[in-house]
Amino acid sequence: PPIYAITPTYSRPVQKAELTRLANTFRQVARLHWVLVEDAARRSELVSRFVARAGLPCTHLHVPTPRRYKRPGLPRATEQRNAGLAWLRQRHQQLPPPQPGVLFFADDDNTYSLELFEEMRTTRKVSVWPVGLVGGRRYERPVVENGKVVGWYTGWRADRPFAIDMAGFAVSLQVILSNPKAVFKRRGSQPGMQESDFLKQITTVEELEPKADNCTKVLVWHTRTEKLCAESLTRRASCPSCHCIGGLA
Ligand code: UGA
Ligand code: MN
Repeated sequence: PPIYAITPTYSRPVQKAELTRLANTFRQVARLHWVLVEDAARRSELVSRFVARAGLPCTHLHVPTPRRYKRPGLPRATEQRNAGLAWLRQRHQQLPPPQPGVLFFADDDNTYSLELFEEMRTTRKVSVWPVGLVGGRRYERPVVENGKVVGWYTGWRADRPFAIDMAGFAVSLQVILSNPKAVFKRRGSQPGMQESDFLKQITTVEELEPKADNCTKVLVWHTRTEKLCAESLTRRASCPSCHCIGGLA
């Protein structure tokens, strides 16, 4: 089955570097379709040019996050992931079943091993795996007993119904199409609960399919790119606070 990677992305100095790294990974994956969703009122020239030369099948969408939701502590990329889901549903609505396909949410700053894609490709409904460098630990992972998820190893909010990062699961296209109302929600969604709120709508913990050797291998890392300070972006001198080289971005 094809793999659909839904990537929210927004304009900032490191954006092109992030997208380049991601494209270099995705280009090596067979039948991967990249759904890039810009957090913007229109498609940017930078991303349009990038997509045209990315060397893999891409769909370039955009939707702006309403200003009131652009605040620290609020979930990010809700509207963009929903736009990706809406596009997938619309694209497949007319086609008769069976419609093979697996989708996952690939934030633009994470690091993905190529093995991950072969793991997720066999997803029947919803599959899960460990994520490195997240949840206040070196990794978070579903705890698996006899091939079933029975709990979560995490250092942060273990009370989450699905204590898993956005990078830790994949969903079959069939599940997305047969649950047409399943979306990411802003209302009532606390920080860190987006994954649980979404997964609750389409599956149960008992039903999850553990991947990556019963969730014992880390194949994706929740890496985060350092923010460049304002000074480094405007000045051509090296910045006194973080000693970065200014002006090169
Ligand atoms: C964590 C989770 O790993 C994300 O999946 C979750 O969306 C996020 O928290 C959250 O708070 O909602 P984190 O590394 O803190 O991730 O978030 P970012 O990587 O900064 O953002 C997640 C994605 O949203 C990225 O692909 C980023 O490009 C995009 N984004 C971020 C936007 O589209 N617009 C923004 O204003 C910020
Ligand atoms: Mn991130």
